Amino acid sequence: MAVTVTTMKKMKADKDKITWLTAYDYSFASLIDGQGVDAILVGDSLGMVMQGHDTPIPVTIEQSCYHTECVARGVTNTMVVGDLPFGSYQTSKEQAYENAVKLMQSGAHTVKLEGGELQIETIQFLVERGIAVCAHIGLTPQSVHQLGGFKVQGRGAAAKQLIEDALGVEQAGAFAVVLEAVPQNLAQEITERLNIPTIGIGAGPACDGQVLVLQDMLGIYPKRSPKFSKNYMQGAESVQNAVGRYVSEVKEGIFPAEQHSFN
Ligand code: KIV
Repeated sequence: MAVTVTTMKKMKADKDKITWLTAYDYSFASLIDGQGVDAILVGDSLGMVMQGHDTPIPVTIEQSCYHTECVARGVTNTMVVGDLPFGSYQTSKEQAYENAVKLMQSGAHTVKLEGGELQIETIQFLVERGIAVCAHIGLTPQSVHQLGGFKVQGRGAAAKQLIEDALGVEQAGAFAVVLEAVPQNLAQEITERLNIPTIGIGAGPACDGQVLVLQDMLGIYPKRSPKFSKNYMQGAESVQNAVGRYVSEVKEGIFPAEQHSFN
C-alpha cells in the first residue's frame, strides 16, 4: 500500500522509524521505491547535486516540477514530496498555493517549504486548500547567505525559537517537519513535544525519521559531503544494497550514530 501522511503519523505513534531519501529522476526513484523507503523528497538540493551550483538558490519552480514529474513516474509505494524552491512561496500565500499546485500537478503527493513561525499563515492557507505540507526548520539552505553559511542552528538561546517554530508549524497543520543540522538533544525535545513526525538530517537519532541526500549517501557527490551523511556504497554490492542498508540502519537505530550528530 502507498505511504500516506496517515501512515507516517501511525509510524510515529508505533515508534517505527521513517525513512526518506532525495531523488530527482525516474531510475533512482524506481530503485528507491523497491527498497521500502517511505518518501522521496525531490529536494531543491538538486541545484547542488544535479546542477553543480553551490546552493539551492538558483533552482526554479519549473525545474522542481520537471524533476518531480520524472520521480513520480518511478514510484508506486513511496510518497513523493515536492520542494518549493527559493522565491516560489515567500511573496504571498497565494503565490505559495499557485506553485504548490504546480508541484502536485507534476506528481507530488505533498510539498515542503522552509521556515517556521514566519510561514504559519502560508502553511495554514495551503492545508485549508487540501495540500499536505511538510515544514523545514533549523538549517534552511535557501537562507544560507543570511545564516552566514551551512551551520548548525538552534544552539544556546536560539533553541527556544526553534521549539516555537516546531510547535507553530504543527499548529498550522503541517504533517511533518524536517529538522536540519540541529543539536541532537534539542531535536529529541522537539520530537517528544510534537504529535507530527520529525524527519532529521544532522539532527541525531531521536527524530521519528531520517532523510539524506542520495548523492551524499552513495558517495558520488564530487564536493565535500556533510558530516551528518554516511557513504552507504562502502562495502555494498549495488545501489539497491546501499539503499536497503540505509533503511535497515535507520529502522534499527544504528544510523545516525554519534559521529553524524551535533551537540
Ligand atoms: O533539498 C533537500 O534535499 C532538502 C533536504 C536536505 C532535507 O531539503
